[in-house]
Amino acid sequence: MPKIRILSAEDVRAALPMAEAIGAAREAFAQMQRGEATVPPRAHIDVADHRGVALFMPSLLPRTGRMGVKAITLFDGNPAIGMPRIQAVMLVLDAENGAPLAVMDAGTLTALRTGAGSGVATDLLARPDADSVAILGAGNQARTQLEAVCCVRPVRRVWVVDPARPAAEGFAEEMSTRLGVPVRVAADASEALRDASIVCAATVAVTPVFADADLQPGAHVNAIGSYKPRVQEIPSATMARARVVVDHLASALDETGDLLIPIGEGVFSADRVHAEIGEVLLGTKPGRATHDEITVYKSVGVAVMDLAAAALALDRAERMGLGTEAML
Ligand SMILES: NC(=O)c1ccc[n+]([C@@H]2O[C@H](COP(=O)([O-])OP(=O)(O)OC[C@H]3O[C@@H](n4cnc5c(N)ncnc54)[C@H](O)[C@@H]3O)[C@@H](O)[C@H]2O)c1
Repeated sequence: MPKIRILSAEDVRAALPMAEAIGAAREAFAQMQRGEATVPPRAHIDVADHRGVALFMPSLLPRTGRMGVKAITLFDGNPAIGMPRIQAVMLVLDAENGAPLAVMDAGTLTALRTGAGSGVATDLLARPDADSVAILGAGNQARTQLEAVCCVRPVRRVWVVDPARPAAEGFAEEMSTRLGVPVRVAADASEALRDASIVCAATVAVTPVFADADLQPGAHVNAIGSYKPRVQEIPSATMARARVVVDHLASALDETGDLLIPIGEGVFSADRVHAEIGEVLLGTKPGRATHDEITVYKSVGVAVMDLAAAALALDRAERMGLGTEAML
């Protein structure tokens, strides 16, 4: 009888330390760039009667020997009935024989792989001496953004800002303890950016979360919040002057106001996107050119990031004896 492994959020977290997740993200970007991966467009179902949306994100990584699909649902009415607005689950299958191998919580997986993507980008694009970080937003993604950045640079100082002050205070306390780096709450984005060589924007804001003039020369920005055409987290002026690198060009140009709004304003254009991160990773396009230029990594998320992280989490969970096995 075929068996399937079930991994909870805690199992995924325990199986996938951030440094390992960054390795998986590198592998995903490299395979995608070499044209080895299969990444069909994600399927989108509106569940209008219940103010819900479901996204199904399939992919195949032949070199990893895995294929899978992440199902992520966003139901706006859920908080009112005591349920989370966003829920997600990942199914992993064997790419050699199609056998289902695992089902795992994908909320934690998403946060880990999104952070890991920014870890890869920061490693490739931030200045080698970057050691101070501004975190804009103090939610789930912000935590893994900071964790990832701390894996690839010797971070000494962190500022966090969030209009929900208790969220920022909780973030500062939790992350200072977890990472052993002082994390302070800034009064506003301007204060947070004053000394930041790395900026992570991970908010649910719909308009830009900082002023372009507040960016320090040579800062690197990870922008992961906006995935809708009318939602903009990064000022148009920043996009207009930065070296912009994306996770997946077609998806980014289709989905995010961080590109579409400045394009609509005439201050940016699709051909101004310097590269996909995989191109910089494989060395087919250069990364940062000067000490003082601004670099931006814009991510909307790609299914191969989920699959690579899930495949590694499964391998490691098997070795560590994590999760529960069930007969199908
Ligand atoms: N790129 C990707 O692959 C990817 C993956 C997962 C989530 N996301 C997106 O990232 C965003 C954040 O997700 P999350 O799970 O951390 O959400 P969350 O609700 O846990 O946290 C978001 C935080 O942003 C704060 N915020 C709102 N406006 C702000 C502002 N102007 N300045 C600073 N903080 C502000 C909120 O108060 C909240 O604390 C969402 O838009 C989500 O859709 C992107």
